[in-house]
Parts: sequence; C-alpha cells; structure tokens
Amino acid sequence: MYQPKPTKGNTDWFRHDRFGMFIHWGLYALPARHEWVKNREELTDEQYAPYFKYFNPKRFNPDHWAELAQAAGMKYMVITSKHHEGFCLWDSQYTDYKATNTPWGKDLLGEVLRAFRSRGLKVGFYYSLIDWHHPDFTVDMRHSQRNHPERAALNQGRDMSKYRAYMKNQVRELLTNFGKIDVIWYDFSYPGPDGKGRDDWDSEGLETLSRTLQPEIIINNRLDLPSSADIYTPEQFQPREWVQVDGQPVVWETCQTFSGSWGYHRDEATWKSPGQLIRMLVNTVSTGGNLLMNVGPTALGELDSRAEDALGVYRDWMAQHSESIYGCTASAFTAPQDCRLTQNGELLYAHIYAYPFRHLHIDDIGDRIEYAEFLHDGSEVHFTVDEAGTASLQLPVLQPRSEVPVIKLYLKS
Ligand code: GLC
Repeated sequence: MYQPKPTKGNTDWFRHDRFGMFIHWGLYALPARHEWVKNREELTDEQYAPYFKYFNPKRFNPDHWAELAQAAGMKYMVITSKHHEGFCLWDSQYTDYKATNTPWGKDLLGEVLRAFRSRGLKVGFYYSLIDWHHPDFTVDMRHSQRNHPERAALNQGRDMSKYRAYMKNQVRELLTNFGKIDVIWYDFSYPGPDGKGRDDWDSEGLETLSRTLQPEIIINNRLDLPSSADIYTPEQFQPREWVQVDGQPVVWETCQTFSGSWGYHRDEATWKSPGQLIRMLVNTVSTGGNLLMNVGPTALGELDSRAEDALGVYRDWMAQHSESIYGCTASAFTAPQDCRLTQNGELLYAHIYAYPFRHLHIDDIGDRIEYAEFLHDGSEVHFTVDEAGTASLQLPVLQPRSEVPVIKLYLKS
C-alpha cells in the first residue's frame, strides 16, 4: 500500500496511534454560540470584554477530560493555547489577555498537559496565527472589525512586524516552558491581497523556531508552506482516499466535531449519531489517516453530557475493536460490499457497515486467509474460497450487538 512522503518531525507514533482529542477552549465558551462569535457578530473588543471579566471555570477538571479521552481510545491531545480571539490559556509574559488575569487567576494549559501526560497521552498545542485582539494585527478581510466604517483609521499604526515578534515570543514560551510538545498546530493562512500568508507570519521563521526548540515536533500544514508540513489536515470533511499532495501520499489527519462548531455551542442540535462517529474513525484509518475529534469544554470547564455520551460511543466500540485501529492503515485488498478494510501486516480487518444476510464476500483474496474471527467475542467465522479466488465468510443471521462489527482475518504470509 502507500508509503507516505517522509516527514521532518517524528510521525512514527502518530501513524500508529491514529486517534486523538482536539480541545477548543477559550472565552467563546461563555457566549456559547461558536468560537467565531466575535467575528460572526462583528463584536468590538468592548462588546467582547464581559467574557474576559466573567471567565471563571469553577468546575475545571482536566483529569476527568483525560480520563474520558483515554477511555475513548484517544492517544494524543491538541489544545488551543490561543484561538483567533487572542485569549491565552497560559501565563504568557507577552500579553495581559490571559487566564491568569481573569477571575480564575491561574494557568490552565500546564494543568491540562499534566493531566493528559499522566495518562500516557501525547500532547500538542493549537496556536492561532490569526488574532482579533492584538493591536498590531491588521484589520483584514477576516477580522472581526472588517466592516467597521473607520477601518482605514483602525489600521493606522498597526504593525504586523510587531505581531510577528509577539508570535515568536509566544511560540518560544510554549515550546520551552511546557516540556516535550509532540504537535504544534498552526491555524491558519489565507493568502491574498487582503489576506495573510507566509510573509505575514514569517512562516519559515516559525517553522525553524519550532523545530529548533522541539526537534521531533510535528507541524501541520496551515503555515502556508506546503512542502515542509509534516501533516495535512482536511477539516470537517472525510477524504475518500489517501490524501495526496502533488501526486504524493502524505501523512494526514482529519479534524472533526461532534456537533459542528469547535467551541462549546449550547444550542447546536447537529450532534452526530453513534454510527456516524464510529464510521468516521474507521473511514479515516481505512484511507491511511488519523482522526482528531474535538470537544469544546463549557464556561465552567466541563464537557457537557452530550460530549460525554459521544466519547462513550468511542469508549464502548474501542474497548472491543481498537486493534483494527492502532497500527493499522489502508489495505490493498478490495473491500467487500458495504465494508471498510484496515490492515496491520498480515492482519486484515473487515468493518461491516451494513450487515448482510449470511455471507460476506471478499474478492481476489485467493488462499490468503488462514483463519477468521469476530473481534468483539473472538468467535470463529467459517469461510470457503471459490475457483475465482473469492472468499465467502459465513455470518450469523443476527448482527452482533455492535455499531460496526469487525471480522479479523489472519493472512498467510
Ligand atoms: C478553522 C477555524 C476554527 C477551528 C479550526 C480547526 O479553520 O478557524 O475555528 O479552530 O479550523 O481545524
């Protein structure tokens, strides 16, 4: 099957682990109507100020977040150190706009890292290149004040070179003061006349700084430096096949939400179903990628019960099926009807999306199958192979009690 293009950062663990937790948390948890609320509603700093003034996540319990992530089978975590609103979860010496200056009064980022590391998960930072709070960040087409009648006046005196220096200082802090960081997730570039890209960020400089401070770190592809990215990050959509860049397969990770927005959204009713959640994970691994599944903690610092339920869907399925995910990748065999295949060496896993009556057929597999069993209970699955090389697996009439049952095939080498 595909060998992805080699990476500068260490993606060995990443390609094995396959499943991570994304955490979007910031002041936007208070309005609870999308992390882009400042932008969407074109709120001024003054209108946004109450969320800073009243930020006090009294029920912040990162150990519980980490416990839920670990139980769900997630192996790494990426958290927003700063999102587009500009608010910092750590005690950065380069800004006052940070958790330590809110009623909460304490660092949050280090606590989250401690909790996840103590459960053996790898850790990463999301860092927003965009900043709708910083006084030197120009008011461009994506800025919350883009339609301000005095836009030109607002831009007077703004100096992106100062903002570039600010970002470097913050990235240095993040990659120096918090121990080993496995991933840095920059977000995002929109090059063009009224947009921002590599020169506005000094993307080369950020990349060099990141790799110098953390030689193994994985850097995503949103710095607008396509050829030096370690991972490619299709967002809120499910690739149908292995992601390729310039005709070359690459290491990739799709990021997805449970309900639509990334930050906590109280009134969203678009929560994905259990079947969809499992299929998103399986689809991703069966096409050679990783899934970064997002949660948005509330203003109080909790995962609400809908998020806990969704994580529970993964917990229950992964408890029985995680071996068809970890260490697995796309298979060169053709998937049977309504199935997805993953493979790990001589182990092939057939994930059954629509449970058929009696038989599952795998074409062109010849005499390669030595033994077959269900993953959920280890029970044998009988099979025959015809002259054309199609294997017919004999299934029980009743679908096992699993959202997506999996048959494990031991192949002869
Ligand atoms: C985006 C959005 C955003 C989210 C993210 C996750 O481009 O700006 O709010 O953080 O990507 O992929």
